Amino acid sequence: MSIAIAIDGPAGAGKSTISKFAAKKLGFIYIDTGALYRTVGLAATRAGVEPAEGRELDNLLSKITVELTFNDRGEQVVLLNKEDVSGLIRTPEASMMASKISAVPSVRAFLLDLQRNMAKTNNVIMDGRDIGTVVLPDAEVKIFLTAAPEARAKRRYDELIEKGMDVKYEDILEDVKTRDYNDMHRDIAPLKQADDAILADTTEIDLEGSIDLIINIIKEHSNGAV
Ligand code: DC
Repeated sequence: MSIAIAIDGPAGAGKSTISKFAAKKLGFIYIDTGALYRTVGLAATRAGVEPAEGRELDNLLSKITVELTFNDRGEQVVLLNKEDVSGLIRTPEASMMASKISAVPSVRAFLLDLQRNMAKTNNVIMDGRDIGTVVLPDAEVKIFLTAAPEARAKRRYDELIEKGMDVKYEDILEDVKTRDYNDMHRDIAPLKQADDAILADTTEIDLEGSIDLIINIIKEHSNGAV
């Protein structure tokens, strides 16, 4: 039987970086489900389709394929109609589009089996917003990873500045808050802590400390399975 660890939480809490490291340490596959919503968002942008429920979007979903694969280094690669779009989905515009399109029920339904099938055949650490509540309600360990909006915005700001981008902290904080609001207030699968999830707050903890924290939580709560 495969083991599943669900890690949910708001944008910028460090879910993907922490989950990636933790998966490597534990020999699990890391699955970033946000990339799937970003990919559907990219497909809609390219086709000029609004991120809203309706025939146009249904029509688009019936025509596209989204697949998850892994490269030689074990990193996740997302394919949209067989094209590797892993790099193209990492822009601020793609983030906003993903946030909007992820509120559409048909999009969530479209991506559900893909996510569940990955967990059926592999030991996974899967991160997202509704993994512990909807996608893998029977996950062995569920973690809700969060940090104060200001701390998340500061980390993102530092990252972008390091990349040489001209950005303002206030704009990024605004972006973080908007995405939190969208993710928490949509009707379907809103971001919320599962009743049986363990809360991990990394506001005051650095990356290394956060990875240790998550690994300790997983080991403590997996009843010897990990
Ligand atoms: O984690 P991320 O920033 O790459 O996610 C992009 C968007 O997708 C985010 O606004 C919320 C949405 N999302 C979701 O609704 N459910 C998931 N399991 C993962 C992401």
